[in-house]
Amino acid sequence: MHLSYLALAISLPYAMLLADQIPLRTDSLGIWDDLSASPDANETSRLIFDTVNSLLQHWPNTRYRNGHTIVPGTVPVGTLLYHGRADSSLPAVPEWTAIDPEHAFPFCSAPPRNASAGTHFGTGSITGDAGCWQLTLVATRALHVLYFDGSSGAKIKDGALDAQDLLVWGVSDPERVSDDRARIEDLYAWGKEFGVDGYVRMEMDFEIALCDFTAGVKLVSAEFLAAWWSTTPTWHTPPWQTSATTPDLDPTRQLQIFETLRAGAWHNRYPGETRIILDMTRLVSFYDNALAPSLVAARVGQERWDHRLQDISHTDLAAVRTRLKAVLKSMNKSDVANGVDWRTLLRVPVDHYADRLEMLEYLLNTTTLENIGTRATTIQTRLRVMLTPYTLYDVRPAWGEDTEDAWAGPVWRSCATRHTAHIHMHASTTLTMSERLLLGAFDQTTREICRVIVRMWAAGVRAGLDGLIPVPAAHLAGALPVDPMRVVQGWREETNALIAWLDWSVWVKCRPACGFEETCYLPTCPYFWIGMVQPSEEDDNNNNLWKRPQPRCIRQFEPYSVF
Ligand SMILES: *[C@@H]1O[C@H](CO)[C@@H](O)[C@H](O)[C@H]1NC(C)=O
Ligand SMILES: *[C@@H]1O[C@H](CO)[C@@H](O)[C@H](O)[C@H]1NC(C)=O
Ligand SMILES: *[C@@H]1O[C@H](CO)[C@@H](O)[C@H](O)[C@H]1NC(C)=O
Ligand SMILES: *[C@@H]1O[C@H](CO)[C@@H](O)[C@H](O)[C@H]1NC(C)=O
Repeated sequence: MHLSYLALAISLPYAMLLADQIPLRTDSLGIWDDLSASPDANETSRLIFDTVNSLLQHWPNTRYRNGHTIVPGTVPVGTLLYHGRADSSLPAVPEWTAIDPEHAFPFCSAPPRNASAGTHFGTGSITGDAGCWQLTLVATRALHVLYFDGSSGAKIKDGALDAQDLLVWGVSDPERVSDDRARIEDLYAWGKEFGVDGYVRMEMDFEIALCDFTAGVKLVSAEFLAAWWSTTPTWHTPPWQTSATTPDLDPTRQLQIFETLRAGAWHNRYPGETRIILDMTRLVSFYDNALAPSLVAARVGQERWDHRLQDISHTDLAAVRTRLKAVLKSMNKSDVANGVDWRTLLRVPVDHYADRLEMLEYLLNTTTLENIGTRATTIQTRLRVMLTPYTLYDVRPAWGEDTEDAWAGPVWRSCATRHTAHIHMHASTTLTMSERLLLGAFDQTTREICRVIVRMWAAGVRAGLDGLIPVPAAHLAGALPVDPMRVVQGWREETNALIAWLDWSVWVKCRPACGFEETCYLPTCPYFWIGMVQPSEEDDNNNNLWKRPQPRCIRQFEPYSVF
């Protein structure tokens, strides 16, 4: 189904809803009477919903490295940025800065002793390998930045760099993966007319490629730090690259790597890195099927790990660029005064359903022939509790021959429309295109969550498992007894399918939980092959270790685990 048609089909009933004060009769339920209608396979609302809920969080963007979202944002006045280098000079060209000093430290180094000095700001003295240079900067005004989601700072050829490279080079070229110097220069040139101060990317931690070290930032200090790991001459060859396949790492390097990973992990979960404030009203997504329809066919049969942007058509890429430029041109305007806090709104269903669905999955997983008697009613109670705010007093089946679930349609409709009905009625004409996209992602995602939960609850009611809606004796007498194990089996399939469809990264965790000396870790670029030999392209089992990252516990201090 085409997206605009879908949007229309959805928004009309939403609008009707508020206009009509009297509860609608079953026969005017419209799209809400068919609880068996599952979403179209090409539809991307759940992906937009999850990527938007994952922005600036390290964990989900380590799991799905190929970013699909570009969002303008600001870095507030007073934010510190760190830049490790081989001397104390302020860079005269665009350079990378880290938002946590732990992520700048690996790039901090000492110059060769005979190097000719540039402009020095610092006061330290060079003592060879025992020290290294760190510049600390502060934002003196709000910095305008552009954020690429995913592991957009990872120099790997499987798609993490697609969005940037398509934007500036029009092509994602595996030969140019490490050409980060040209990439940053070209991004800088591209964004100059819009006043972009920097580009936010993520690797072991979040970083900002700063265009001009004299614009909007001030040097706080240039210091020669005690380097407790052996320094390398330039940041071009950080230690892990030269020793990537060496089984025995220098322990101080392991420490330094672990501490960089730890800093990244501070931003693992919501709200993530909060020193970058995103403007959701100007978000651009490659999962927007109206903006980039050519990617729909490219994704058919692909797992989410493998979604790439490189197959986008020229026309669609031009449209994305046009949209981005329009978005950036309006960067200084504050004309969007709807005031909807989209990040917070999109978080609501995750708060409401993430742990409840996980509990449901657990209860279903552990239901056996022995405990089914009590378990089935426990599960039905979970379902009812989730739907309580939407379940009107007189909603119940007709108990006839009819096995359809249309009677539960009003519960589905309330559950799916309550949160955004007001926005549809009163703000829809003033929303930006980005906001419409977010609204659609919210609606479609909650619609499916509610559909599945209501359907499961309705099945439990019909099976006589619901404490508040007993089966009438007259109906019971004539009907065949329901096998509760069949109900549980149906619930299990529906729950597993919903969890797989939503695919929220909040559910990706170490099971069992890690001990106190450990931390839960997802393989993070560029540490895939430290302590191991990189497998060949054909070695699927080993390639899946990093192409489909799975969590595992690693030690927090010596002796370190293999990263
Ligand atoms: C430093 O000295 C070495 C050997 O004397 C020389 O090869 C190198 O070019 C010098 N580097 C600089 C930056 O002057
Ligand atoms: C936004 O404002 C900044 C600072 O006032 C300016 O440098 C930049 O050119 C402006 N950008 C646009 C797109 O007008
Ligand atoms: C999904 O998109 C592909 C490619 O455009 C198309 O062939 C297929 O029919 C679509 N599937 C559905 C269910 O619309
Ligand atoms: C339920 O079982 C599946 C398959 O064995 C497993 O992957 C999943 O983690 C289990 N879920 C819970 C919450 O125990």
